[in-house]
Amino acid sequence: MQDKRMTIQEICSLKGRRKITMLTAYDYPLASLIDRTGIDMILVGDSLANVVLGLESTTQVGMTEMLHHAKAVTRATRRALVIGDMPYESYQVNPQESVKNARRFIVEAKCGAVKLEWFPQCLAVTKEIIQAGIAVMGHIGLTPQTADKIGGFKVQGKDAEAAKRLIEQAIALEEAGCFSIVLECVPDKIAEMITRRLKIPAIGIGAGIHCDGQVLVTPDLLGLFERFKPKFVKQYINLSPLIEKAVTDFKDEVAAGKFPAKEHSFSIKEEELKKVS
Ligand code: KIV
Repeated sequence: MQDKRMTIQEICSLKGRRKITMLTAYDYPLASLIDRTGIDMILVGDSLANVVLGLESTTQVGMTEMLHHAKAVTRATRRALVIGDMPYESYQVNPQESVKNARRFIVEAKCGAVKLEWFPQCLAVTKEIIQAGIAVMGHIGLTPQTADKIGGFKVQGKDAEAAKRLIEQAIALEEAGCFSIVLECVPDKIAEMITRRLKIPAIGIGAGIHCDGQVLVTPDLLGLFERFKPKFVKQYINLSPLIEKAVTDFKDEVAAGKFPAKEHSFSIKEEELKKVS
């Protein structure tokens, strides 16, 4: 496993050679663990809103929250390419502010790239950010920031017209200069077509096995988010009951006077103690 940070060029060169891995992280402890495993990319996702902050919608987080968490993730990592997810307000509500906000992810939070979701002005905004020298990952299919405008949290591209639109969006994003694209909740055959058509890596989430790589939201994979579980999530471990047990054990041991034990306590020499009392 290489020890230096993955570059955009290295990520792109993996297409067709081996599968690419990406996970989300939002804080120092989990980002450190993920980085140690050799995951290629870490996304500081705006899923922060749901899985960390307990909010209903990803549109409820802004630059302040995203930068705060992105800084913790880049501090923790040495190897993965860290991508800052641009929050809704930073480029969809304020397209004229998008370059400035993208640059904040790079300069202040030390991210290697930004991600933005498809929206009507997506291509113009993407081109401006790329012209400013910032690498962009696109995101098409189910775009949670605008879920209300695309029929809700549903699989996208299920009829021929919608599937063709997705293919066009993917090609347009590649032509605009994106280095990679996330395909979220897209039928596997359409994701396969898109993956084959693109020269850049397509990273799937709920988009089947044929994408160049896969991304999951880490708290879903670890069983740390219990509010809902999308069909595409595979829970590799269920940490919630383990954590609940550890916390209950702590509570019970404190109540029973068993914690802290001698080995968790500090001592003072007898002669010094005598001078105190
Ligand atoms: O915010 C996020 O976690 C994402 C992933 C689902 C790709 O955008």
